[in-house]
Amino acid sequence: MTLLDVRNLSKHFDVHHTGRRIPAFTQLTFQVQAGEFLLVAGPNGVGKSTLLRTLYRTYRPTGGQALYHSLLGSIDLVRAADVDITLLRRREVGMVSQFLRPRPRVTAVDLVAEPLLDDGRPDAHDQAKDLLGTFGLKRDLWTAYPSTFSGGEQQKVNLARALILPARLLLLDEPTASLDAVARTALRERLTQLKKDGTALIGVFHHPEDMAGLIDRALTLRADAAG
Ligand SMILES: Nc1ncnc2c1ncn2[C@@H]1O[C@H](COP(=O)(O)OP(=O)(O)OP(=O)(O)O)[C@@H](O)[C@H]1O
Ligand SMILES: [Mg+2]
Repeated sequence: MTLLDVRNLSKHFDVHHTGRRIPAFTQLTFQVQAGEFLLVAGPNGVGKSTLLRTLYRTYRPTGGQALYHSLLGSIDLVRAADVDITLLRRREVGMVSQFLRPRPRVTAVDLVAEPLLDDGRPDAHDQAKDLLGTFGLKRDLWTAYPSTFSGGEQQKVNLARALILPARLLLLDEPTASLDAVARTALRERLTQLKKDGTALIGVFHHPEDMAGLIDRALTLRADAAG
């Protein structure tokens, strides 16, 4: 089943202080099936992160179409209203970036449990602790504030928060960059399970070998295609 059907998707940035237009990517066309893992590859600055952020609608695309087949019907991520995007993010579309955004005086376990609490789940905190344990975050840190954590510790919290609710479409931007071997293995196992359950995955990995055997296809972005 096709979950995401992207046609001629383009994004450029207008940089006002230089008066220049920077094309991030131009006229991308690809599909992603349920249970498929698509690797987005290409050199630095070619638009990989921008593509993921555009699909998550952190950025508005500048052209084309991205039809997502949601449980409630098809929706074009390019034109969808912000309220619909908020609902999709809560229920169906997840994104893991490279960095956690810690919030003042919110503990690691509270940050991770939040998506489940929003969903009214009474076992939210137990599940959050389980997942932090799975990613190998030291127990002493579970009730501490992540703003002082190391980069890898913060990323464990970030992953647990992003993966606590199963998404139908999961966007991953270099999630393994700061992870130790335990956390990389835990992430791989989690993604293997999600894929089996039909989650479509679109990911950027600096070391795709971390995900060997899971990746089905690669979409390689090229600098010359961006101009
Ligand atoms: N908010 C923004 N405003 C202006 N230009 C931007 C913005 N975000 C990204 N860019 C530009 O768009 C291009 C693509 O950036 P992007 O972060 O998507 O690259 P990337 O392929 O993820 O690179 P890397 O491998 O280094 O992470 C770059 O030239 C970058 O400078
Ligand atoms: Mg990037």
